[in-house]
Amino acid sequence: MSISINNAIDIAKMRIAGRLGAEVLDYITPFVVHGVTTDALDKLCHDYIVNVQQAVPAPLNYAPDGHTPYPKSICTSVNHVICHGVPGDKVLKNGDTVNIDITVIKEGYHGDTSRMFHVGEVSIQAKRLSELTYKAMWLGINQVKPDASLGDIGYAIQSFAEKNGFSVVREFCGHGIGKVFHTEPQILHYGRPGQGLKLKAGMIFTIEPMINAGKRDIKQMPDGWTIVTKDRSLSAQWEHTILVTETGYDVLTLSAGSPATPQLI
Ligand code: MF3
Ligand code: CO
Ligand code: CO
Repeated sequence: MSISINNAIDIAKMRIAGRLGAEVLDYITPFVVHGVTTDALDKLCHDYIVNVQQAVPAPLNYAPDGHTPYPKSICTSVNHVICHGVPGDKVLKNGDTVNIDITVIKEGYHGDTSRMFHVGEVSIQAKRLSELTYKAMWLGINQVKPDASLGDIGYAIQSFAEKNGFSVVREFCGHGIGKVFHTEPQILHYGRPGQGLKLKAGMIFTIEPMINAGKRDIKQMPDGWTIVTKDRSLSAQWEHTILVTETGYDVLTLSAGSPATPQLI
């Protein structure tokens, strides 16, 4: 199958969807505190997306092949949960790390972004993992320009993570996005420079590395969605939706509350 090149209208609509996704993360930030349940975060985000943004939470009832419909509107992945943590009665407590992953649909277009949150004071290792994963995402983003290859993105992320003693999850990757939530190409967070598909202006995809403090191996929980580290080590993830421009990239999922871009050198 071929990879979509977005036209000016698509890009304008993706900018709106992307910003809205990021603004949900801004909105939820003050609620991510000791004592809150992941279900309460889900309900707050759901209501904000539907009532304030007049958009649709893409995860709700999302049912890719081999999966039961996803039952909630956001993903909340706490501590050793790598991704697709399903909100429930879990109470967040001081020292927890949580990835909140938001995808909104606005006028038929998807904006997909996630951030790490720290509940109270977290361990030095947890902080290091979140910060390093954030930097890894940006090192990947920084590779994006016409004629760069997907392997350049994966290599930038993998080499940095492994140099720092962490591991990269292989089973989940970034993805093309637009009118469809998950489409080609797959954006692997590991790879070799110069290998794989060459980027072209107008492509839009996510970069969303999942990095583990321990081994890279994963395990799926009986709910059919929640993915955890097999060794129960901590995991972190950040995600942005990226447009390839004529000269480089544009990050479509920025908002007033986005953390600063890290110093990459
Ligand atoms: N937002 C996730 C991603 O980054 C996908 C979540 S699918 C769900 O691709 F069904 F688990 F919500
Ligand atoms: Co995504
Ligand atoms: Co996401």
